[in-house]
Amino acid sequence: MNATISPSILNCDIGDLRGELEKISGADVAHVDVMDNHFVPNLSWGLPVVEAVVKSGVLPVDAHLMIEDPDRWAPLYAEAGCASVTFHAEAAHAPLRLARELHRIGSKVGLGLKPATDIAPFVDILSEFDMILVMTVEPGFGGQSFIESMLPKVRRTREAARAAGLELSIQVDGGVSRATIERAAEAGADNFVAGSAVFKAEDAYAEVEVLRALANAHMH
Ligand code: DX5
Ligand code: ZN
Repeated sequence: MNATISPSILNCDIGDLRGELEKISGADVAHVDVMDNHFVPNLSWGLPVVEAVVKSGVLPVDAHLMIEDPDRWAPLYAEAGCASVTFHAEAAHAPLRLARELHRIGSKVGLGLKPATDIAPFVDILSEFDMILVMTVEPGFGGQSFIESMLPKVRRTREAARAAGLELSIQVDGGVSRATIERAAEAGADNFVAGSAVFKAEDAYAEVEVLRALANAHMH
């Protein structure tokens, strides 16, 4: 597996969306955080902005839905052309049915886990997902510190995927930077969301490559 680098545009200069996307054009996908001010205490944007990012055509879009009632809303993001749609385990009423619906529409499907949510209840249905998102901060804001105690969950998820013979992607999101990406890769993550680490860097394009090299050197 090669590292997937997924810069989060949450704190980019939204007034120059295309310019900001072009800065990260060397990344694999653009991670777009949708927040509804109910599932998390913050409001970002919704479908029209995500559609604009898809239409820009700069990068495939990885939508991270931090919203209530994803059963109702997530399919619209798949229909809008997102390459992958991640909904949260804590919010979905019928995660399995929703995963199948998203696959039918044609997107990849991620299952998000807040820090206090374990992977154990989902181990038997891992094959229904393309990706597990292990949140390494409490979702809601960029710029928080990486929670080290999430690494055992990353490890257990990778072990469960291997035991089931699955090429599951494991994404880490929150506080991922030069200082933390190696340990996440070591623990079994292969998909790395980085918001402030990329957009606060002097050269966002180069930072993506630095993160990619660090991750690839520590994945196994
Ligand atoms: C937080 C979002 C993240 C956020 C990451 O709830 O899901 O994607 O943008 O930002 P950093 O990398 O700054 O922690
Ligand atoms: Zn995110």
